[in-house]
Amino acid sequence: MANQIAKPATGKLGIMVVGLGAVSTTFITGVFMTRKGLAKPVGSMTQYDKIRVGLGADKKYLHYSDIVSMPSLNDIEFAAWDVYPANAYESAINAEVLKERDINPVKDELLAIKPLKAAFDKKYAARLDGDNVKDCKDRWDMAEQIRQDIRDFKARTGVERIVVLWAASTEIYVAPDMKYHGSLAALEAAMKANDTDHIAPSMCYAYAALMEGAPFVMGAPNTTVDIPAMWELAEMKKLPIAGKDFKTGQTLVKSGFAPIIGTRMLGLSGWFSTNILGNRDGLVLDEPANFRTKEVSKLSTLESILVAEEQPDLYTNYFHKVRINYYPPRNDNKEGWDNIDIFGWMGYPMQIKINFLCRDSILAAPLCLDLCLLIDLAHRAGRWGTQRFLSFFLKSPMHDYTKNEVPVNHLFQQYVMLKNAIREMGGYEADEQID
Ligand SMILES: NC(=O)c1ccc[n+]([C@@H]2O[C@H](COP(=O)([O-])OP(=O)(O)OC[C@H]3O[C@@H](n4cnc5c(N)ncnc54)[C@H](O)[C@@H]3O)[C@@H](O)[C@H]2O)c1
Repeated sequence: MANQIAKPATGKLGIMVVGLGAVSTTFITGVFMTRKGLAKPVGSMTQYDKIRVGLGADKKYLHYSDIVSMPSLNDIEFAAWDVYPANAYESAINAEVLKERDINPVKDELLAIKPLKAAFDKKYAARLDGDNVKDCKDRWDMAEQIRQDIRDFKARTGVERIVVLWAASTEIYVAPDMKYHGSLAALEAAMKANDTDHIAPSMCYAYAALMEGAPFVMGAPNTTVDIPAMWELAEMKKLPIAGKDFKTGQTLVKSGFAPIIGTRMLGLSGWFSTNILGNRDGLVLDEPANFRTKEVSKLSTLESILVAEEQPDLYTNYFHKVRINYYPPRNDNKEGWDNIDIFGWMGYPMQIKINFLCRDSILAAPLCLDLCLLIDLAHRAGRWGTQRFLSFFLKSPMHDYTKNEVPVNHLFQQYVMLKNAIREMGGYEADEQID
C-alpha cells in the first residue's frame, strides 16, 4: 500500500448508509445539529483529538484537520437504504435515542432523507418484516440495483466522492467458505447462480460500492468484506475497506482494561460479559443465528491481548463468555456487566466488576463519522485493501486469517496505528513515542 500524502478533500463527500435505524439517525442528526452550532460532536476523534507531529523541540500537537485535508461537516451529503419506509425524522423519533428537542431543529433536513429500497432477504434477519424492499431476480441483480442507486445519488447531488457505511442489522452468521468467498471469480459466480446461502445481502452492498468506486465500512459483525474475494476486489479497484463491528461499549472497555491485567503480569481465569438491551438491534440479536455473528466478533478481543503462548502461567484456558439479552424496557440504554476473575501472587484469586450503563447509539454515532471521514482520507491518500489503522474503532478488526495474521485488539496499540497513519498521510514521519 502506497505511503502518500492525501489529496485535498475538494467538493462534497456522499455518505450512503445501509440501515436508517437508531445508530444511523443518531449519527446523521448529530452531524446536522453540529452544523447549526446546536450540538457538540463529543467522542469523535476527527473533531477533537490532537496528535503530536515532530519530535523534540519541533513537536506540536495538532487536530487531524491541521495535519491532513479533511472535509468540513458542511460538505457531507447523506442517503440511506432501509427495509422500513420511515424517513430519517420519523426513524429518529421512533428510535427514542435523542430527545425531540435535539431532533426538531433539523427536522427539514431529516425529512428529506427518505430511505431507498433495501436489498434484503428475510432469511438473514427473520425478525424484520418491512416492505421497502427491492424486487430482485437474483443476487447479481441485487448488486446491479444497488450500483444504480449509487450512480443516481451521485448524479442527483453532485458529490465528488462516496463512502458506503453498513449500520444495518446484524445478519445471520455466514462462515467464510473458500469455495464461494475465496476469490472474486468464485464470489461473482455464486452471485450469478443466486446462491442465497453464501451470498448475504450485505455482500451485494459491498460489491456494488466497490464496483462504483466507493470505499466500504462494515459497522456490524457480518463477514461481508472479511473474505478474500472482497480483498481481491478492493485491491483491483484500489479502494480501502474496513470492518468489522463498531467498538462502542463493553468491548471498548475490554480492549482498554485487558492491557492493565497484561501489563501488570496478573493472571486471568475468567471473564464473563453480559448485557441487557432493548432496541431493534437487541431484538434482531435475540435470534440465535444473528447472535452467533456478534458472539464471534465479541469473543475475539481478549485472545490477542492476553495470550497463552506468551504467558502460559497467566493466560492458559481462561474462560471467556459473552451474552446479550433482549430486554425491551431499556431500549437503547444498554447495561453491561463484566465479571473478571483474576489471580495474583502465588495464584490468589481476586475479582473485578465493571457495570457500564451506556447509550449504544450515542457511543456508535461518533464512530460512524470518524470511520467515514477516515476511510475517505485513506482513499485520497491512495491506500487500498483492509485499513488496519481503523482497528481502533472496531470490535473485530479485519486481518488476513488465510496467512495467520493476528489482529491488533489492544486499544493503545491501535491508537498508535491510528496516529501513525494520520501522520504519514499528512507527510510526517511515523514513530513509536508514547504520546
Ligand atoms: N450501537 C452500538 O453500540 C453498536 C455497536 C456495534 C455494532 N452495532 C451494529 O450496528 C447496527 C445498527 O444498530 P442499530 O441499533 O442502529 O439497529 P437498528 O435495528 O435500530 O437499525 C438497523 C436498521 O437496519 C435496517 N436493515 C436491516 N437489514 C437491512 C438491509 N439489508 N438493507 C437496508 N436496511 C436494513 C433495519 O430495518 C433497521 O432499521 C447493528 O448491526 C448493530 O449490531 C451497533
